Amino acid sequence: MSSLAFRSADLKPTSFTSSGTSTPNSPNSYFSVPTPLAERSLLLNDADEGKTFEDSHSADGFTLITGGLGFIGSHTTWELLKDGHNVVIIDNLSNSYLTVLERLRQMTNASFAGSKFTPQIDFFEADYRDSRTMRSVLARYNLPLGSSRITGVIHFAAYKAVEESIRHPLRYYANNVAGLVDFCALLGDLSIKTFIFSSSATVYGELANSGEKLSEDMVDSKGCRGLTNPYGRTKWMCEAILSDLAQSDPAWNIFALRYFNPVGCDVTGLLGEDPRGTPNNLMPVLIQAVTAERSVLSIYGSDWDTRDGTAIRDFIHVSDLARGHLAAREAATRTSSTLKRFQVFNLGTGNGQTVTEVVAAMSSVIGRTVPTELIGRRHGDVGICIADASKAAKFLAWTACKTVRQSCRDIVRFLKIEVSGG
Ligand code: UD1
Repeated sequence: MSSLAFRSADLKPTSFTSSGTSTPNSPNSYFSVPTPLAERSLLLNDADEGKTFEDSHSADGFTLITGGLGFIGSHTTWELLKDGHNVVIIDNLSNSYLTVLERLRQMTNASFAGSKFTPQIDFFEADYRDSRTMRSVLARYNLPLGSSRITGVIHFAAYKAVEESIRHPLRYYANNVAGLVDFCALLGDLSIKTFIFSSSATVYGELANSGEKLSEDMVDSKGCRGLTNPYGRTKWMCEAILSDLAQSDPAWNIFALRYFNPVGCDVTGLLGEDPRGTPNNLMPVLIQAVTAERSVLSIYGSDWDTRDGTAIRDFIHVSDLARGHLAAREAATRTSSTLKRFQVFNLGTGNGQTVTEVVAAMSSVIGRTVPTELIGRRHGDVGICIADASKAAKFLAWTACKTVRQSCRDIVRFLKIEVSGG
């Protein structure tokens, strides 16, 4: 496998033209780019150095993945790699670690051992908002006649902490919204117009309080009701911008994927959720109660109109969610007459579990009771949030199939948590 890795500091645009060996269409010529900060032993496979362009799998297209080392990004990258896609990962490591890249390489090598081709992983440590660097990176994949070997983009890079977005709204609008605008302009210039956007069920806002399953058409670019925080508003704004973009130019195919509540991790136990900072979402906090990093899990609200009084969410295994991106990527590539150029899909299971049921599933997997306390509702929470998952099933031929219990088991494997009686 030929794996490349650069940090943005290495990506001086002049490097691409000043080197005698550098031609934009030859991936092996990248080795001539000065990489003083790159960890060569970790990131470059010496065995590939003598190969020609034709020898490598990189003759095929690439999928560009921003935020590809994060929780959902890394799982999606892995599903793409397993399926034989070459990937270009852009990540500024603000909420992820380089070790994830190494894991992905190991997993891919193991998975393709003995095969003729191994998918290529190119990594650039860069901020997707750094247009100059991004232009340099993307230029490496240019083909004659203004086309690109990058045939599609999955855009994860964004801020996502609700509380933080309330304290620092401009940071969220700058990174999530202004960043998207500049990024799409650059992609448009380079004729890269297949785009999968990472959206969220948060765009349904207080509509979720009806208790009905949420279908895509309840919120569209015309408007939304009851968004409770700037983070949610950035996701809705981005969807509206992307809808306008697709309207303006029929060459774009854009799918926005609204995630419900991702949990779990890859079944190998090699990828997982490892956020920087203090977690707020249920599963990472529950894990802290399991590992005694905190004494008790505080359950927010026991007076919701649900079967046990605790809130209901549509918890979806992250590997199912990642496969949903693969399905969207393929559908967006072949989209012609059947789907409009801008489409929104819920990625959820269509079923809900209460917070107490999730805790019970985890307790049953680890063979001991997780300490909990019932406290008041968290500001901004809704009682019930469940996807109508039928549109993705119909148009993407995708459904989620893993259970919350499987999610718990996979997390326990990843974190090597001791299981009582196991
Ligand atoms: C949250 C975000 C949402 C984001 C989603 C991504 C808020 C208000 N919403 O949704 O914008 O898209 O994460 O995953 O933060 N819970 C506890 N104790 C805890 C943590 C959570 O009882 O320590 C409860 C919550 O009150 C909620 C449920 O668990 O009822 C799920 O919470 P969480 O994982 O934070 O997800 P959401 O609130 O659905």
